[in-house]
Amino acid sequence: MKYKSQKVAYWFFALSMLLLVLQITYGFIMGFARIGMDGLHEFIPFNTARAVHTNLLVVWLLSGFMGAAYYIIPEEAQRELVSVKLAYVQLISLAAVGVAAIVGYHFNWWEGRKFLEIPRQLDYLVVLNVLLFLALILLTLFKGKRKTTTALVLTMGLLFAALLYIPGMLPFDSQVTDSFFRWWVVHLWVEGVWELIMGGILAFLLIKLTGVDREVIEKWLYVIVGLTFLSGVLGTGHHYYYIGVNKIWLIVGGIFSALEPLAFLAMALFAVNMYRKGEKKHPNKIALFWTLGAAIVSFVGAGLLGFAHTLPQTNLYTHGTLVTAMHGHLAFWGAYAMIVLAIISYSLPNMTGRKFYDGVRGRVAFWTANIGMIGMTMAFGVAGVAQVYLERKFGMEFMAVQKEISIHFVVLIICASLFAVGILTYIYDFYKHGRPTDEALETVESTYL
Ligand code: HEM
Ligand code: HEM
Ligand SMILES: [Fe+2]
Repeated sequence: MKYKSQKVAYWFFALSMLLLVLQITYGFIMGFARIGMDGLHEFIPFNTARAVHTNLLVVWLLSGFMGAAYYIIPEEAQRELVSVKLAYVQLISLAAVGVAAIVGYHFNWWEGRKFLEIPRQLDYLVVLNVLLFLALILLTLFKGKRKTTTALVLTMGLLFAALLYIPGMLPFDSQVTDSFFRWWVVHLWVEGVWELIMGGILAFLLIKLTGVDREVIEKWLYVIVGLTFLSGVLGTGHHYYYIGVNKIWLIVGGIFSALEPLAFLAMALFAVNMYRKGEKKHPNKIALFWTLGAAIVSFVGAGLLGFAHTLPQTNLYTHGTLVTAMHGHLAFWGAYAMIVLAIISYSLPNMTGRKFYDGVRGRVAFWTANIGMIGMTMAFGVAGVAQVYLERKFGMEFMAVQKEISIHFVVLIICASLFAVGILTYIYDFYKHGRPTDEALETVESTYL
């Protein structure tokens, strides 16, 4: 038996997919600008496109996480959501704030703080929105019949993410202090509390898809949470030296951030082991693809490619180059985009009653998107390494270097096109599932609880 209020998740996922398409559009605008085709420059210059691209990414992922919570928490807590109406109010206000921010960016209403460009006035609306979301989730959890580790880790991740947003809202006169707290949001999100969100969703999916005992799966979850905090908190130091904070952080940040891949390695081993241990009976193989894929690709994108430039010996040269973009793309894709696509793939057939997972479309979407993204990562990587040598070893002028490496953006656009085909196929599949219904949720077989 599932819960009717889980349907709310569908609309958060739909918003998420819409924003993903927009994000990709702005990616192309930048890709083409990089090879001299910058026809939209007057209205959407590169810096605006970049802010819109990265902010849309954050908003579609957050919408995906919220959808995941609305789906997972009722099922884990074994009760309906406390208020479906308020959940829709929250959805609409999230969309409204997102749209206001994105439109504002096109009229230069933004602050020059990478990833946190939202003007502080709008931040207050973000806070209201998130408070409403957290209230609904926390109340459902506490009024529920059970409080599982999976639900608690997911909720803690969401709660901490909200709390960490606050230091990023404080106004400071000093650029250094401002950047110092900006990293509390940016770093401690993706290399800290978002890992809890990912771990929670991953655990839920593995319980459902592999049939391995909850106790076994949740023991792993503790290990992941432990490793994340052990390394990620002081790992923040790997950003500090470059913004003007004391040199000691080069050492502290270097050491602790070098340990961060362990949490991602644990997640990959966890997922693969649970799959091997499991009964392999669940029919939704495509959800399993995305789930295992997220665990493995995040280890490569965040763990390996993060490690590749985290030691001061490297990052003193690579800081702020396209090497960062290389890592940023595969890390965000593997860890957070893929886990959102995984929970959507799992929950969609349950909510709509349509079982498309045997079809070929799902597999095409999975492989095309992943191969495209790996190609994009390589194009960014080659461009980045070339940039580092030309600019920082040989002292060539910045813009001259950008011109020199523009050929790699042709490759980027080709791979990005493949990626976009994969994503559009995924979204077509999403659309074809149709709307969620009560009947579908009532009749879904609960193979594993
Ligand atoms: C899923 C997890 C991760 C995501 C989504 C992610 C994403 C990103 C992004 C977007 C940036 C650019 C940030 C900015 O300049 O504002 C960045 C920077 C960086 N990341 Fe990660 N990252 C992750 C995990 C890791 C891990 C585990 C490590 C180390 C082992 C790492 C090492 C670095 C370093 C050293 C930089 C700074 C690069 C520079 O100085 O320009 N990241 N990451
Ligand atoms: C069609 C697909 C895409 C294209 C063509 C594209 C292209 C780009 C370009 C050109 C940049 C700016 C790099 C620079 O500063 O020069 C960028 C930044 C970024 N993109 Fe994408 N992108 C695409 C999809 C994605 C996706 C799906 C994700 C996340 C999963 C993503 C995450 C990011 C991030 C995190 C940054 C900032 C990186 C940094 O701080 O260095 N992009 N993208
Ligand atoms: Fe970091």
